Amino acid sequence: MNKRAAVGYGAGGGKGGTRRGAGLGEGGQGNANRVIRFRCGFTNTILDVLRNRGWNHVTEEGADWDFYWCDVGWMREVFDHCYMDEGARICHFRNHYELTRKNLMVKNFKRYRKQLEREAATAGGKSEALKMDFYPPTFELPTEYHMFVEEFKKHPSATWIMKPAAKSQGKGIFLFRKLKDITDWKKNSVYKPASQQNHQDSQGEKEAQVETYVVCKYIDNPYLVGNKKFDVRFYVLVCCYAPLKVWLYREAFARFSTVRYNLESIEDNVVHLTNVAIQKLAPDYDPERDCKWSFASLKRYLTAKHGNEEVAQLMREIDELVIYSLKSVQKIIINDKHCFELYGYDIMLDTAMKPWLLEVNASPSLTASSPQDYELKYRLLDDMVTVIDMENRLTGKEKRIGGFDLMWHDGPVLVNDGGVEYTSAPGHCTNSFLGCSNENRQKQLKQMMRQANIAKRHNNPTQPNQNTSVQQSAAAGVA
Ligand SMILES: Nc1ncnc2c1ncn2[C@@H]1O[C@H](COP(=O)(O)OP(=O)(O)O)[C@@H](O)[C@H]1O
Ligand SMILES: [Mg+2]
Repeated sequence: MNKRAAVGYGAGGGKGGTRRGAGLGEGGQGNANRVIRFRCGFTNTILDVLRNRGWNHVTEEGADWDFYWCDVGWMREVFDHCYMDEGARICHFRNHYELTRKNLMVKNFKRYRKQLEREAATAGGKSEALKMDFYPPTFELPTEYHMFVEEFKKHPSATWIMKPAAKSQGKGIFLFRKLKDITDWKKNSVYKPASQQNHQDSQGEKEAQVETYVVCKYIDNPYLVGNKKFDVRFYVLVCCYAPLKVWLYREAFARFSTVRYNLESIEDNVVHLTNVAIQKLAPDYDPERDCKWSFASLKRYLTAKHGNEEVAQLMREIDELVIYSLKSVQKIIINDKHCFELYGYDIMLDTAMKPWLLEVNASPSLTASSPQDYELKYRLLDDMVTVIDMENRLTGKEKRIGGFDLMWHDGPVLVNDGGVEYTSAPGHCTNSFLGCSNENRQKQLKQMMRQANIAKRHNNPTQPNQNTSVQQSAAAGVA
């Protein structure tokens, strides 16, 4: 047993100190009877999933753990001082903010786009940089204020949207059309020019005296359904950045505004921001009526209106957006074998059905807004835990695990490059199935576990049968 290392932060304690990730321990790998110890800093769906898996919830200060669902604050404050054994796993990468903070995300996109342009100029080929057109023109404020003003003047009738770089749920966001509006904001936000701001601290995180914002071109021609604006939240699991290994969850949802879209009332956030937290502020908000649609329903709607080929094109563009956004930070994220990340992608579609990436969340909300929402999040998290494979039951060659499909493994994963059968997605050969049926999930998990068990026994005939408890936990998942 490992010695205990520290005191800490999270579910039960205050901040500071270190926390031990004991991991599975020597000789622990592959022991089907071992009970996995987990810590969890949250009391929502993830806690239910981990408990229902039969894992042991450790809450005492300084206790060893194998799996920690921590918050991003813990990563910042404790991770660097924390010793973790081989098999311990934790739910963020150390510098996840390179993708999940709005200003840094765009900075990395711009840098990667330039890199691709340079590479194309040297090689003389078609520029892959053209693929990096999935985010609206964006500037960091106050640092890029002058660049923004230049761009602003080129589009006198455009609408812009201001967002705090590190907030969520629509907090602090406003729309504007006149520079005067932003001048007022500057006054109110104790604006200081860049030269007077603190420099980056040793972790590369800015401690600016004024809150950093991004200003983005507002997508003023959103795709509407029943005159309502929506955005789409889908989930991407990255288990490793070197090589990049990416799983896309097939279930996702669209979040609708409760009121008709118009461009007159730009001061009314309920019209323009589709966050559930903002929609709850609408005077006639009905908590009984969830303003979400499954992505499968949205896809059916779009297919009925525009046909298979246009929807297949949309799906290809979404795949590219996921891969290019991750490749933009691949060399920057500190890859660590203990870390994985479940990202919540926010995209919206314009009237031409082009997808735009709005942001990538490190801590997508796991609190359910309805029973269906709970079920989706439960399946998502249960499958995520199966992919992470603390129980060491998989072969590592799986291409589908419940609702997760492996879309990238150091290169695109194609539908037909394995022996496993998939439902077909017309005109679409990447192994991604966003919005496709997940109804056979339980059956698929059982079949996959059986195959993995056979393969493992074949490779190691002395290994005990490991099937039972994961089958049980999959069956315990909310169907
Ligand atoms: N550039 C944009 N054009 C149109 N709508 C936007 C744009 N950026 C954000 N929105 C709207 O505002 C909402 C919140 O923006 P988002 O970037 O996701 O910030 P938050 O972290 O607060 O959720 C989005 O869900 C979307 O409805
Ligand atoms: Mg958002």
